[in-house]
Amino acid sequence: MDLHICILAAGQSKRMKSKLSKMIHPLCGKPVIAHVYKVASDLNAKTLAIVVGFQRDQIMDALAENPADFLVQAEQLGTAHAVGVFLNHSPQAQGKLLVMNGDTPLLRKSVLEGMLMAHEQQKAQLSLLTAEIPDPTGYGRIVRDGRGLLERIVEEADATEDERAIHEINAGIYVFDLAKLRQWLPKVQNSNRQHEYYLPDILAVALAEKATILALKAAAEDIAGINTRAELAAATKTMRARINEHWMLSGVTLQDPNTAYIDADVRIGTDAVIHPNVYLEGSTMIGSDVTIYPGCRISDSYIESGCVIYENCSLDSAQLEADVKIGPFARLRPGSIVAKNARIGNFVELKKTVLGEGSKANHLAYLGDATIGKGVNIGAGTITCNYDGEHKFPTVIEDGVFVGSDTQLVAPVTVGKDAYIAAGSSITEDVPAGSLAIARGRQVNKQGWVGKKKKTAKKNEK
Ligand code: UD1
Ligand code: CA
Repeated sequence: MDLHICILAAGQSKRMKSKLSKMIHPLCGKPVIAHVYKVASDLNAKTLAIVVGFQRDQIMDALAENPADFLVQAEQLGTAHAVGVFLNHSPQAQGKLLVMNGDTPLLRKSVLEGMLMAHEQQKAQLSLLTAEIPDPTGYGRIVRDGRGLLERIVEEADATEDERAIHEINAGIYVFDLAKLRQWLPKVQNSNRQHEYYLPDILAVALAEKATILALKAAAEDIAGINTRAELAAATKTMRARINEHWMLSGVTLQDPNTAYIDADVRIGTDAVIHPNVYLEGSTMIGSDVTIYPGCRISDSYIESGCVIYENCSLDSAQLEADVKIGPFARLRPGSIVAKNARIGNFVELKKTVLGEGSKANHLAYLGDATIGKGVNIGAGTITCNYDGEHKFPTVIEDGVFVGSDTQLVAPVTVGKDAYIAAGSSITEDVPAGSLAIARGRQVNKQGWVGKKKKTAKKNEK
């Protein structure tokens, strides 16, 4: 039987108190909706539709690289109305329809597969997920009769005090027989406190039609919805724990899993060691045997095996080849490439710069728009003056160069192979290969100058 999927993502997210739809808020480095999309697309359904409305452009942008049918619900009249948008768009679709709230990002593929299988095996016409949760505030409650049989779902806003005390909640995940859904949906009314067409009301309609209904219990953790920032934080905590567990089971040491902040798409090799308070963000890849000391933030970067990143480094879109050591307190901005065995020390900043194999910049330097060869020594306090207030200019430092401390390289400038630059130089012209450049004021020592100065001062006092 065909499977179709419809994700509901058109709502306004009022409870987030945010300019942004909750679908766009990041959860472990990806928008909430991207997590839901991922689990849905893994089911390989015949069609995958996303109902959008509020901030639809932003949501479509967030999923730009992912194939889906975006259906516009111009007015958000409720979840049943949103499903109606799907039915209008796909009048020919047959088989099963899985409807998922777009704000339930912790759902796992295995839970959905189990649900779909049970729906099939029991020949159900409607299946829904429920969960027992300690604090059911905000959720629709599952109302059962004296014998424990399903009766209906009541939303928090419409519930009596007794109903609010029910801990079994509706997860907002449903599988429908499409033919039955087409009969039932028009019967859902909006005569409730919020004047919305509630999808959960379809349970009572289906029961009245003597449908075969399956209510499956899921774990509270899996079905948590995100309506408020507090729920977003709780979901983040759950997802982070899952991510960290996965990496520890894959052979990564996390010194303190409670303070390892690893985004969903990060990849880490075996025997990497991550110390506390480390952030690995975006598409970062960490090779095997890499050690990352406390307080580092690494975004969209590629770190090859054997690297050591000492404490408090910041890396953004940078690449470290194998066995590089950087930090403590290094800053690598986008376009920084540090080749094999190179070393970057404390208070060194790189931007759009390649530091060649085995080269060193150990202390206090700014290297921007520079191409630096192999075996180069960059002395403490070296600065590439790459910007004249209007334009950026390149610096080229060829293999084997020795740059003395406190050198300014006024770009554009090239320092030839094996050249030396004397400490304290302001280099404004190219340095030929193999030569020594000295570009600083000459020192003058005035002997006895201090004594004379003191004598004159005493005279003036009298
Ligand atoms: C919904 C259920 C509730 C359930 C809970 C589980 C309804 C009426 N209530 O409540 O029983 O316990 O989910 O998390 O369905 N949306 C649209 N168009 C609309 C309205 C909503 O696409 O017109 C989307 C929202 O973007 C959201 C989803 O539907 O992704 C659910 O809407 P939301 O307002 O979060 O419903 P809840 O109050 O959480
Ligand atoms: Ca919700």
